[in-house]
Amino acid sequence: MKILIMGTGYLGTTTAVAFAELGWMVSGFDPDTDKIEALRQGRLPFYEPGLEELLRKHLQSESITFYSDPRTAVQDHDVLFLCVGTPPKADGSADLQFIQAASEQIGSCMNEPKLVVVKSTVPPGTQAKIARWIANAQRAPIRFDVVSNPEFLREGTALQDSLHPDRIIIGSDDEEAADRVRRLYERMDCPIVLTTPTTAELIKYAANSFLATKISFMNELARLCDALDVSAADVARGIGLDPRIGASFLRAGIGYGGSCFPKDVNALMFTAEQYGVPLSLLRQVEQINRSQPAYFLNRMKSRLGNMRGRRIAVLGIAFKPGTDDLREAPALAIIDALLERGASVRVHDPVARLPVGLEARGAVQRESPEGALGGADAALLCTEWPVYASADWLRIKGLMREAIVFDGRNALDARRLKALGFDYHGVGVR
Ligand code: UDX
Repeated sequence: MKILIMGTGYLGTTTAVAFAELGWMVSGFDPDTDKIEALRQGRLPFYEPGLEELLRKHLQSESITFYSDPRTAVQDHDVLFLCVGTPPKADGSADLQFIQAASEQIGSCMNEPKLVVVKSTVPPGTQAKIARWIANAQRAPIRFDVVSNPEFLREGTALQDSLHPDRIIIGSDDEEAADRVRRLYERMDCPIVLTTPTTAELIKYAANSFLATKISFMNELARLCDALDVSAADVARGIGLDPRIGASFLRAGIGYGGSCFPKDVNALMFTAEQYGVPLSLLRQVEQINRSQPAYFLNRMKSRLGNMRGRRIAVLGIAFKPGTDDLREAPALAIIDALLERGASVRVHDPVARLPVGLEARGAVQRESPEGALGGADAALLCTEWPVYASADWLRIKGLMREAIVFDGRNALDARRLKALGFDYHGVGVR
């Protein structure tokens, strides 16, 4: 089977490299010719540890090639993976314009039967729409199948997640089509769930929404922990040891961000409302997450008082470590609020770059943590990059005007910092 990956963004490029690693011949297609040119030269348009090296390896062995012409791309391959983006629309629903465009491209370019596999995150019911878009764009009817096969990779560990998934979900009404997709993953050692397309689509949203719910549950509970002077991490450990609950995704902090959780929680709520089944729990999950940066800012305000003229060193702006992705990063809302209150903001992040909008409003990016921390009235950690936990905080204390640390990810060693004389504040940290 010759695999074509349509859409060479984060998901598409990782998927292409993963299939090449599994021994398949794979190609990538994207209408963005600059992106394709960069990929042909082995350069990624985003940061992901380890991916560029593997891309180069497979370019060299010619197991990965790239196309910018849709017709030859579609015609040269028999399995077409849809990996295009489904960004959020203003009303919270998923924007399917790129899915529709790629489907129509498949329909109008196909000259023989095709297996279309949908990896992009799409609302329940989209598989049927994709089939309609392809059929409507065909000049003459040619057989094709559309199978749903959602991806669960995380940024920062994308390759590891793609090559060693917990499970593979295959949603199809056609047994033979499902079996062809299953064969692509033959070398993987994990459970395979064979189900209907709509179920597969819902599984993806349910997984992300459930994980977001765990985080918001813990974040709200951490507010109570602060009031009770109780450690949220101890509570998380105490409940997480119960296998029915599980220890992961119970880290309290300034809230979840990224390209998936905020978007997918909203899109699932939107779809549910369309079906007359509002998901009120998710509304709360979203609301808690949205207010978590403000909760932490209020705690900063109670300690620092008036922010005007105060110099704050923001450590980390990416939505999590291991990525330069700033989408829905809680750090951005916090920096915005700090600037609004007249604070002077110095930022450091090992890979992410401060958006021009915030720079224009006075925030400054420094190339080292010390550069941001020098002369600061307080340090505010927003992304738990390991470099901050392993920093020499005794030396840093000497650089800062005041030894105050706000740890928005509970990532620093609170006990040690306190022993060094820092006034330390976390989220639900005693
Ligand atoms: C997520 C899903 O994990 C992945 O399966 C899906 O395919 C895409 O969305 P990703 O967005 O890359 O992956 O990051 P993830 O590691 O899940 O973290 C998401 C956000 O939650 C980050 O902002 C992170 O800081 C936050 N988080 C995570 C917490 O605040 N607390 C936790 O305990 C875990």
